[in-house]
Amino acid sequence: MHKCKNNCTFAAILGHNGMLTDDIFLELHRILPRFAEDQVFLITDENVARECLPLFESQTADFGQLWQNMLRRHTLVLPAGEAHKNLDTVRRIWDYLQSAGATRRSVVLLLGGGVVTDMAGFAAACYQRGIPFINIPTTLLSIVDASDGGKTGIDYGGLKNQIGLFRPALENIIWLPFLRTLPAEQFLSGWAEMIKHALIASPIEWNRLLAFDLEQYLAAPDEAQEDEFRALITRSMDIKRYVVEQDPEEQDMRRILNFGHTVGHAIESELIGRGQARPHGYCVVWGMVAELYLSHLCLGFPAEVVTQLSSYMKAHYGAVGFSCRDYERLLSLMRHDKKNTDSRISFTLLRHVGSPCAGSHASDEQIKEALDYLFSL
Ligand SMILES: NC(=O)c1ccc[n+]([C@@H]2O[C@H](COP(=O)([O-])OP(=O)(O)OC[C@H]3O[C@@H](n4cnc5c(N)ncnc54)[C@H](O)[C@@H]3O)[C@@H](O)[C@H]2O)c1
Ligand SMILES: [Zn+2]
Repeated sequence: MHKCKNNCTFAAILGHNGMLTDDIFLELHRILPRFAEDQVFLITDENVARECLPLFESQTADFGQLWQNMLRRHTLVLPAGEAHKNLDTVRRIWDYLQSAGATRRSVVLLLGGGVVTDMAGFAAACYQRGIPFINIPTTLLSIVDASDGGKTGIDYGGLKNQIGLFRPALENIIWLPFLRTLPAEQFLSGWAEMIKHALIASPIEWNRLLAFDLEQYLAAPDEAQEDEFRALITRSMDIKRYVVEQDPEEQDMRRILNFGHTVGHAIESELIGRGQARPHGYCVVWGMVAELYLSHLCLGFPAEVVTQLSSYMKAHYGAVGFSCRDYERLLSLMRHDKKNTDSRISFTLLRHVGSPCAGSHASDEQIKEALDYLFSL
């Protein structure tokens, strides 16, 4: 029996305006006058400090010399990567804010990918019971997913995102030129969450993504492609925002955003355990292929769309490289997933494109058959 009370229509998002900006200075100029000049702080990671901070400084140079000096004095650069998304780094952030004299009248700019916005957002949300922070995401994944929706947190006890808070950023400033230095693999990782948003939203969104020539875009995009990319990002952010607005604290409908993540997180954890970590979005694509196959078995999802996603996966993300010897470990990881509400493994499956069903269940045999399918590709 598949509980399916999360069917939703995305018609409401049509016409919703996105939040991309062409002028990061104007955005900050709108927001920052509320804060004293010496109360602005910036937190980033070492890669973003190298690749994006000079651009950020030049884009905001019109604030003048005092601002430039303040940025130099008030910038904390953290080590990059998921391995540092932990309590030790949060302690560093708190020590830094305290010694630099941050107060509740301060504001912290978070410049970086999902690791920076999740972790420093959490640190800011706890510091003095919460000081405001502004997300300035620099990865595709953080633009379309991590920076919006109010989830902050860190990994703990070997498990992802175990400690955290729901605390939305004061603002989310999205400026696409930061993506120019993003490695292709990280780009594809974010693209995976856009695939997820399209599949849960509607056939129109899904076909539009399929029609976008990724190879050409990554090699040498023309103006028409840049426009289409902007439009796709805006749609993707709108889909996420629409869902989050219905259910900010993931009591019900927001769980549809976990499509692909039950199997995907298990694969991600297994790869981390083997010292072969892959970007989150790759694991999500593999997870979505298995979960679409499961949707076909359990809910009659159309087989031709499963094949469509499988071919797309092989063309852009490659195969996962697991075999039937890995079933039990993957099943055990799925059983420990924090999304389960009882002893059974919980999935978001799809009845068809645009019709997600959170809280779906499947037998171990069906899950193994879906893994078989994924591993055979
Ligand atoms: N809060 C949420 O709702 C939510 C949603 C999805 C994912 N997440 C979290 O997001 C994290 C993953 O985010 P991510 O994929 O952005 O990872 P990330 O922050 O680790 O960034 C990926 C890599 O790219 C580098 N980088 C960032 N911007 C760059 C740029 N413009 N040019 C060159 N290099 C750049 C980073 O230094 C890092 O090495 C995970 O911890 C995940 O749990 C949170
Ligand atoms: Zn994800």
